[in-house]
Amino acid sequence: MITTVPSSPALFVAFLFSTTFLFSFPELVLATSKHTSVKRHYKFDIRLRNVTRLCHTKSMVTVNGKFPGPRIVVREGDRLEVKVVNHVPNNVTIHWHGVRQLRSGWADGPSYITQCPIQTGQSYVYNFTIVGQRGTLFWHAHFSWLRATLYGPLILLPRRNESYPFQKPYKEVPILFGEWWNADPEAVIAQALQTGGGPNVSDAYTINGLPGPLYNCSSNGTDTYRLKVKPGKTYLLRLINAALNDELFFSIANHTLVTVEADATYVKPFESEIIVIGPGQTSNVLLKTKPEYPNATFFMLARPYFTGIGTFDNSTVAGILEYKKPLNTVNTPPLKPTLPAINDTSYVANFSSKFLSLNSAKYPAKVPQKVDKSFFFTVGLGTSPCPKNQTCQGPNNSSKFAASMNNISFPLPSIALLQQHFFRHANYNNNGPNSYTTDFPALPLMPFNYTGTPPNNTRVSNGTKTVVIPFNTSVQVVLQDTSILGAESHPLHLHGFNFYVVGQGFGNFNPNTDPSNFNLVDPVERNTVGVPSGGWVAIRFLADNPGVWLMHCHFDVHLSWGLRMAWIVEDGKLPNQKLPPPPADLPKC
Ligand code: C2O
Repeated sequence: MITTVPSSPALFVAFLFSTTFLFSFPELVLATSKHTSVKRHYKFDIRLRNVTRLCHTKSMVTVNGKFPGPRIVVREGDRLEVKVVNHVPNNVTIHWHGVRQLRSGWADGPSYITQCPIQTGQSYVYNFTIVGQRGTLFWHAHFSWLRATLYGPLILLPRRNESYPFQKPYKEVPILFGEWWNADPEAVIAQALQTGGGPNVSDAYTINGLPGPLYNCSSNGTDTYRLKVKPGKTYLLRLINAALNDELFFSIANHTLVTVEADATYVKPFESEIIVIGPGQTSNVLLKTKPEYPNATFFMLARPYFTGIGTFDNSTVAGILEYKKPLNTVNTPPLKPTLPAINDTSYVANFSSKFLSLNSAKYPAKVPQKVDKSFFFTVGLGTSPCPKNQTCQGPNNSSKFAASMNNISFPLPSIALLQQHFFRHANYNNNGPNSYTTDFPALPLMPFNYTGTPPNNTRVSNGTKTVVIPFNTSVQVVLQDTSILGAESHPLHLHGFNFYVVGQGFGNFNPNTDPSNFNLVDPVERNTVGVPSGGWVAIRFLADNPGVWLMHCHFDVHLSWGLRMAWIVEDGKLPNQKLPPPPADLPKC
């Protein structure tokens, strides 16, 4: 049953509250029985607002004037309706990162893939249901680099009467990592695409929008995130990496974290002092506070993991973990955690190998045991030629940076692929022929030693190429990093599905020996996985969701350079295996 808000005075108050502010305590106002689904309404007004960090004030694109954006709180099974109204000059879309979007691909959000952007003065209602997911996800803009300022938590609580498969936390706290540019990020990427060089790196990292005291002109008082805790309690930190271009190490001095969830799926709990989290990844971790007041404060620090050859923001964001102080205690400087070396790939590999599905009776891992279609995609950088009569600042100062999968860099079409696909039999294309093809190669066309000495020719080809697969195809993809212009870890994100991470390794994937080591019992289920620097990762998913689904590197710079492709999953035979027609307010191009 769908309950439409508002249906009672209490709900009406909550409804008003939720439209402008976070929906803090849905459990207080929504008394529903066990498998009732609730419809939750939000309104996102995209507005400009002045924000100051590091002594730079700039006008930024925000949701409802908030930075970071408002949090959305729903329960598994709920229906969500978010009306997005664009009051800014930029085009915009919002993506519900990690939401499965079962047969609701029109609400997924990547611009020119599932929808045309929402133009100035226009609006669009994102309408979808949360099916079989609980944990932490996030929402973010999916147009150009707007997600630098347009992002916020998307919290999926278990159904009412259901509990967490771990100790009930005393409090839950979202921790969002982001990046701050003193300049306008839209100008940064526009300039980079023009010159072909690498974009200017960010000026700071942030925790919940705040850079912390280790930066110049960043006050300890107002520009630092402080987590105030009580002794002897368990806190659930909902970690979200909303940074654009950087994987991060994160640690809290003198405290151990227990990871219990990743990308809104439960995992076998494991302890660690240092977390690795890539852009697009989310994770719930438990923080047990000291039994007694510790007479100290503790830095929580995050800084990048990086192995590439370009420049990157090599700075550190600090927040402070602070125990409520008994009377008569003195302030001491916060203790600092130790973080791994910037390029500590073996720490990262070891950390990512600890993620395993909970695989309990209640939350089984449904790993595809057989594979219908197998793919091998290289991911990495490359070059495009410098246009005549222009000087370029890409590799050798004579080319432009590009990025690709199977050496194909993917330009966005001018009409959303999902529209083109859905209406293809109805002659929808008022702009002439379809602007995509269905010949994305299953293997690289020109094999080479992917992680050895790179080839002399680093030129990519261009094409809006897709892979078409029948409904319910069981898919395996091996994602192979290349050493072209530097081996680098790539956080690969798949829209519309979770996948199981069945194997990973360094060097080139060996199709004869590596599959025998795959974990087909309890591999972690995620939506974003780091392709190891100089290595490979193997994923499996069941293509049970009809639509057009983007797969891309979640570094925005690589995405802008074309490191993306799209899967077209055809309708199944049954009525409930088909993608419904688009909503009437779907934006036009
Ligand atoms: Cu969070 Cu297509 O991305």
